[in-house]
Amino acid sequence: MQAIDLYNKLHSVQNGTVLCQYSMETCEKLVGLINEINDLKKERDAAILAHSYVAPEIILGVADYNGDSYQLSKNAMETPAQTIIFAAVEFMGETAKILNPDKRVLIPGANPGCSLASSITGEQVKDLRNKYKKHTFVCYINTTADVKAACDVCVTSSNVLKIVSNIPNDKIVFLPDKLMGENLKNELEKMGIKKELVLHTGTCYVHEQYDPDLIKYFRIQNEGLRIASHPECSPGVAMLSDFVGSTSQMLDYIRNLPENTPVLLLTECGLSARLQSELPARRFIGSCNMCKYMKSNSLENILQTLKEPEKAKEIKLNTDVLAAAKRCIDNMFKYAE
Ligand code: 13P
Ligand code: SF4
Repeated sequence: MQAIDLYNKLHSVQNGTVLCQYSMETCEKLVGLINEINDLKKERDAAILAHSYVAPEIILGVADYNGDSYQLSKNAMETPAQTIIFAAVEFMGETAKILNPDKRVLIPGANPGCSLASSITGEQVKDLRNKYKKHTFVCYINTTADVKAACDVCVTSSNVLKIVSNIPNDKIVFLPDKLMGENLKNELEKMGIKKELVLHTGTCYVHEQYDPDLIKYFRIQNEGLRIASHPECSPGVAMLSDFVGSTSQMLDYIRNLPENTPVLLLTECGLSARLQSELPARRFIGSCNMCKYMKSNSLENILQTLKEPEKAKEIKLNTDVLAAAKRCIDNMFKYAE
């Protein structure tokens, strides 16, 4: 790749401060790392999976697969590569390992946590199961392998409504995202589906920050504005949005709007960056929020992971957890397809 090719892809990205924008000089520095990574990943039989929230130079420069957590878990099964480098957060790497126990899954991020995944442990789920014996336990994919192993069915933001609707039991414990759970309750009610939903207290620290009052202000300021939000935002925000969906569903929604429609994306900045690169003529309104965990992935730490895989963070799970968590994820594929 030449610096000019990278600059053509990145010059329309306008996220946050000027520090997040791309000059020709920045692209000249980045392209050296990109070419080194692309040569080395072939030598090492490695595939790079990148979530839409990581920096755009990772998505556009080195990723073999890019998408939302549902899409990436399918890509992890498809790739013939023996090593998966997962530029995202740890629970996504764990999901890849659960689906591919014989492959090596490496995590390059320096701080690959998630405020939702750390809000509940497998032991806490086991305690809840003693309390709610008749309930089906549904966990969001943003959970640790231990939590998945203790639950019945896994969901992602793209299939949560469909799966919970399809589960025959009308008593559900949904965890850990309280706000996604409240949005789910509202959607089920609109569809006339009666389910008793017990929720946990977790939140995404990025999405909970969006404030409905600010959204009303953006609407007044921008005629014809279309707002798309992630279901980890509060019900107040979801109610004011024109579209609510997973990161990939938001991408499709924006791509299909007429070219002159201004848009506001209420999610992590990486998604706006991806769309700004793809649709340079579109007007994107407002600022976005960044996830420090997703942004702890960089070209430097991906290169380091390829150079010294033995020093990188490798996902290792015990066989009981692997088998139980796999059952939970298999149930997601069963109810979603
Ligand atoms: P998606 O499943 O939409 O990719 O979301 C994952 C996530 O972490 C959102 O904050
Ligand atoms: Fe977790 Fe929120 Fe970051 Fe997604 S954006 S990885 S839910 S902290």
